[in-house]
Amino acid sequence: MPLILTPRLVLRRWREADIAPISAISSDPEVMRWIGDGSVHDGVEQTRSTVAGWEHGWETEGFGLFAVEVRATGELAGFTGLAVPHYLPEVLPAVEIGWRLGRSFWGQGLATEAARAALDFGFTDRGLQRIVSIAQVGNDASERIMNKLGMCVERATLDPYCGRAIRVHALNAPAAPAAPTTADRSP
Ligand SMILES: CC(C)(COP(=O)(O)OP(=O)(O)OC[C@H]1O[C@@H](n2cnc3c(N)ncnc32)[C@H](O)[C@@H]1OP(=O)(O)O)[C@@H](O)C(=O)NCCC(=O)NCCS
Repeated sequence: MPLILTPRLVLRRWREADIAPISAISSDPEVMRWIGDGSVHDGVEQTRSTVAGWEHGWETEGFGLFAVEVRATGELAGFTGLAVPHYLPEVLPAVEIGWRLGRSFWGQGLATEAARAALDFGFTDRGLQRIVSIAQVGNDASERIMNKLGMCVERATLDPYCGRAIRVHALNAPAAPAAPTTADRSP
């Protein structure tokens, strides 16, 4: 079971105690403004089934969305992690990195810190060769994170469900260090 520590965060699998705080985060219209058609999640029971789906993803894919916890306080800040973007068939096969934090956690670099760790998990631990990230045009904070992670825009298209304009960013796995050549070897 993957558990990742960063300087300020723990990335871990989901617990029952996370349902209420992630439900509150996903019920905030400002948080959901650039996700799908902007509608909010509808209460704890819908969230419980959504989280069950995320946990199922860990079992079937070997990767998934991490609960992101603040180490200093134990609070659930939100999520980051990996998922197959089935909603956008034109980019498949692909693995997408995404993130969502409660508003009180914005503006401290936490999403970037968490996403860097999740990206490294995907490339190093799971051996993925390429990871994409998808943002609606206008979600400047998210596109800034993609930029900070070194991702580049590779496609502009429309979300087939809500018709909003989206951009697909992508990053290839870092190249493995080259094997030493004869000339590199010490005599
Ligand atoms: C997107 C989100 C995760 C950012 O979280 P965060 O912890 O504040 O992000 P970070 O601090 O790591 O980085 C955000 C960057 O965007 C910048 N930024 C924030 N708001 C911005 C805006 N409106 N326009 C341009 N840049 C913005 C920040 O300055 C920062 O860049 P910097 O480090 O160069 O200063 C958070 O706002 C969120 O959860 N939003 C709602 C959910 C969502 O949209 N998820 C993504 C769907 S694709």
